[in-house]
Amino acid sequence: MKLLSVVLLLLPLSLCLAEVVNDFTQSCPGFFATPNDVVSPPTGFTGDRFKRICQTLNDKAEFATLYDTTYRIPVYSAYRFTGLKKCKRSKNWYIEPQLENGTLGPNMDNESAVGNIVNQAKNGDYKKSGYDRGHLAPVFHATSQNCANATFTLTNIAPQIHLFNSGKWNMIEKEMANVLNKDCINVGLRAFVVTGVVPGNNKMNNSVQIPSHFWTAFCCLDNNNKTIRSSAYYGKKDDSVKEKDESEKEKDESEKEKDESVKEKDESEKEKDESEKEKDDSEKEKDESEKEKDESEKEKDESVNEKDESEKEKDESEKEKDDSEKEKDESEKEKDDSEKEKDDSEKEKDESEKEKDESEKEKDESVNEKDESEKEKDDSEKDKDESEKEKDDSEKEKDDSEKEKDEFVVYQWNVKNMETELTQLYKIHVNNIPDFRFTLFAGECYTETEPMEKQIVEKPAKDKKGTKACKPKKRQKL
Ligand SMILES: *[C@@H]1O[C@H](CO)[C@@H](O)[C@H](O)[C@H]1NC(C)=O
Ligand SMILES: *[C@@H]1O[C@H](CO)[C@@H](O)[C@H](O)[C@H]1NC(C)=O
Ligand SMILES: *[C@@H]1O[C@H](CO)[C@@H](O)[C@H](O)[C@H]1NC(C)=O
Ligand SMILES: *[C@@H]1O[C@H](CO)[C@@H](O)[C@H](O)[C@H]1NC(C)=O
Ligand SMILES: *[C@@H]1O[C@H](CO)[C@@H](O)[C@H](O)[C@H]1NC(C)=O
Repeated sequence: MKLLSVVLLLLPLSLCLAEVVNDFTQSCPGFFATPNDVVSPPTGFTGDRFKRICQTLNDKAEFATLYDTTYRIPVYSAYRFTGLKKCKRSKNWYIEPQLENGTLGPNMDNESAVGNIVNQAKNGDYKKSGYDRGHLAPVFHATSQNCANATFTLTNIAPQIHLFNSGKWNMIEKEMANVLNKDCINVGLRAFVVTGVVPGNNKMNNSVQIPSHFWTAFCCLDNNNKTIRSSAYYGKKDDSVKEKDESEKEKDESEKEKDESVKEKDESEKEKDESEKEKDDSEKEKDESEKEKDESEKEKDESVNEKDESEKEKDESEKEKDDSEKEKDESEKEKDDSEKEKDDSEKEKDESEKEKDESEKEKDESVNEKDESEKEKDDSEKDKDESEKEKDDSEKEKDDSEKEKDEFVVYQWNVKNMETELTQLYKIHVNNIPDFRFTLFAGECYTETEPMEKQIVEKPAKDKKGTKACKPKKRQKL
């Protein structure tokens, strides 16, 4: 009997040594603030549904996560901040093997290394969902490359709208890093961060709960474990989004009309080019026929000249034959010569006119070529307009579907007030827990200098598509 109870006691204890653990303060205490010398993980969540994970990769624990196996998203991830290390993003995504089978090893692993995955999110849940795999413990704050790689476990991830992930939340991560460097790390304090999400009402792929809030808080302690600085930030869905959407939809409609009118302008310019090309073609034909006329006149002149030449020869022989008639012939010859000169100069004139026609024909040819290339340019520009219009339309559709789910506003707050707010929000989702009260640093880490709640006026959320991110959406017609 005694032996049996020892065995029963040892069984859960052995599980504590791996990374799904029973107690953070025993298994990986280094990731939690220690105000007044007490290791202080957030409190409030109990029950088998919530699993404590010492996030381990290559046998090294890098941060800690409380994971909700029912909603398949984390409640929070806790980590040390020691300054920015410029770690690279990993391409390899992991899951937590021990959430499926407690006898598997302590390291996070590829999905393929574990058989049936039911207690956590899979990459397939996020694929084509329209949501980013949003980090809680961010790559950006990681203390080492191994730590950065370890943040790519899906147990540290929650569905996040891309615009929010790459925009305002990214801005919060940067602002917090600046504050932590300036006010904590650079003055010799130790910085501890907890980042979490509040589950919303909808699921992704009928499996993973989509958060309604993202939040983060920090506590900086001096060498005597006294709290010197703390603060919190959070992002929540904006209530005024509906009205804004409507006005943006109108703006979009007017921009679409603008696109349409630009397309029409292009069409009419293309027609103008077409008619100008026809004009050029007909002028070219005219030139061609004039050139032919010139050519035939030149031939006529040439034959006249030949005739003159033979007549001259006749004259010459007659001159030899008839000396007496020489004077008369001389004068006639002079007459012939002058006529021949006249013919020659006329021939020259024809030649130069022919050259002129030739060069004009060439000019027309080149003008025609220019028109052709300009027409081609117009055509390709028209195509470009068309494809840009299509791009706009498809982006508009994408923005529409994304905006349906998003529009987060971000705030800075003090730790105490945020704890109170989060307690109210979590109660709705974990109402099976009696006397639920959520605390961030076990009810410690409050400082008098913390700001009251204030909305952060965000810098423009520029994503890869630049200002297109702000483009409104098309409603689905029912
Ligand atoms: C701060 O608290 C932690 C946790 O109890 C302890 O390990 C550490 O020694 C304390 N530091 C000081 C300077 O007392
Ligand atoms: C991190 O992951 C990348 C792959 O994404 C790998 O190339 C690299 O070696 C890893 N670094 C460490 C320190 O494990
Ligand atoms: C858990 O993993 C162990 C070791 O790989 C294996 O023998 C066992 O069958 C697994 N259990 C289940 C329920 O998959
Ligand atoms: C996971 O998959 C990647 C890529 O296929 C591989 O390089 C790696 O060794 C696998 N295992 C772990 C623990 O990363
Ligand atoms: C959704 O969940 C099902 C069941 O787990 C899974 O087979 C599928 O790959 C997931 N993803 C998508 C996009 O349906």
